[in-house]
Amino acid sequence: MEEGKDPTAGGRVGQPRVLPQRVLQLLVLFLVLCLTFSIVSIYMIRYFGINSSVVTTMKPILVPCNHEPVGLDRWIEPPSNLMHGMSDEELFWRATLVPRVSKYPFERVPKVAFMFLTKGPLPLAPLWERFFKGHEGKYSIYIHSLPSYEADFPSGSVFYKRQIPSQVSEWGRMSMCDAERRLLANALLDFSNERFVLLSESCIPLFNFTTIYNYMMGSKYSFMGAFDDPGPYGRGRYNENMLPEVNISDWRKGSQWFEVNRKLAVYVVQDTKFYPKFLDFCRPACYVDEHYFPTMLTIQAGGLLANRSLTWVDWSRGGAHPATFGAADVTDEFFMRRIYEGQRCLYNGQNSSVCFLFARKFSPSALQALFLLAPKFLGF
Ligand SMILES: *[C@@H]1O[C@H](CO)[C@@H](O)[C@H](O)[C@H]1NC(C)=O
Ligand SMILES: *[C@@H]1O[C@H](CO)[C@@H](O)[C@H](O)[C@H]1NC(C)=O
Ligand SMILES: *[C@@H]1O[C@H](CO)[C@@H](O)[C@H](O)[C@H]1NC(C)=O
Ligand SMILES: *[C@@H]1O[C@H](CO)[C@@H](O)[C@H](O)[C@H]1NC(C)=O
Repeated sequence: MEEGKDPTAGGRVGQPRVLPQRVLQLLVLFLVLCLTFSIVSIYMIRYFGINSSVVTTMKPILVPCNHEPVGLDRWIEPPSNLMHGMSDEELFWRATLVPRVSKYPFERVPKVAFMFLTKGPLPLAPLWERFFKGHEGKYSIYIHSLPSYEADFPSGSVFYKRQIPSQVSEWGRMSMCDAERRLLANALLDFSNERFVLLSESCIPLFNFTTIYNYMMGSKYSFMGAFDDPGPYGRGRYNENMLPEVNISDWRKGSQWFEVNRKLAVYVVQDTKFYPKFLDFCRPACYVDEHYFPTMLTIQAGGLLANRSLTWVDWSRGGAHPATFGAADVTDEFFMRRIYEGQRCLYNGQNSSVCFLFARKFSPSALQALFLLAPKFLGF
């Protein structure tokens, strides 16, 4: 047993001589490594900046406000999502914030806001797609449809995500004017929109984009149909309870399909003076959408109105509704004779043969014929 102990004892005696050398070697190596690491770290911090990775990740937690954009962009960029959560009251207030300095401190390309007031789908959309093609940046599109309708335009469409928060609107009722004001208010949120035109799903453009754009932008007047009709369907619908805000001599009638500039669009959205009078005293058989805007704008800015609509419509068949054109109606002759020929009107005080830029009403069945004839007659 003792012999057996010896080699271990001898081993124990021999170890202190061998180990310190190995330990020292390891220690020195460790120290050198530590030193190198420290030096490298210091240089890394100095030249590559630990602050860029650590401090920036810290900042948003400490001072989040400093990271909001403070340039002009946040005030002039149109909302990226049209489906906001604002009530009409909030929206109208927001839309009527108007700059008091007339010169824009940024490069502003004026746009036309095409506002579609529809029940549901836009059957003539392919025609409009071709009309808008290549003119990006000069127009914006807004669609007010029945709230129950869910649009399914593909992401490449000009109508994709252009729906605004909508409510039920009925012809001849104030809810129709509310929808039109809602369209105007949403379009006013984009400072680049300068002209605002109301269209329906059965409307078509009668010229190419450039012609229509230049006609609107160049006009001194806004195109609101407004005439003084002495008969039972005109003055006959006036109610004396509207006094003193609305005198019968100011009472006007006109088609609801208007085109207004930015200034008049604000007048329409901001109105709280005439609105209650029309709400209470213009009910069927007084059709408020034929009287409210024409009368209100005549009182407030009569001199800025062309007193005619840009939208051609055929009342020649008589009755309560204008004619609707289907596939069989859309022919060469139709365009030449009925729509373009013999037009005469005033444009900026000058005689003009171009009076209408849009026409209605076209049924979905007319699409194919329109699509074929468009290059020849509509210019696109
Ligand atoms: C648009 O139509 C007008 C004539 O109405 C024509 O002179 C012009 O070249 C057309 N513009 C484009 C871009 O097609
Ligand atoms: C309505 O306006 C006319 C002039 O345009 C005026 O003579 C008349 O007194 C006005 N009526 C009322 C009730 O104010
Ligand atoms: C439109 O009618 C109003 C009066 O209702 C008038 O002041 C204005 O001059 C007319 N506009 C044009 C272009 O004639
Ligand atoms: C427009 O044309 C009519 C005749 O067609 C003429 O009497 C009138 O003076 C013209 N107006 C202008 C402003 O040129």
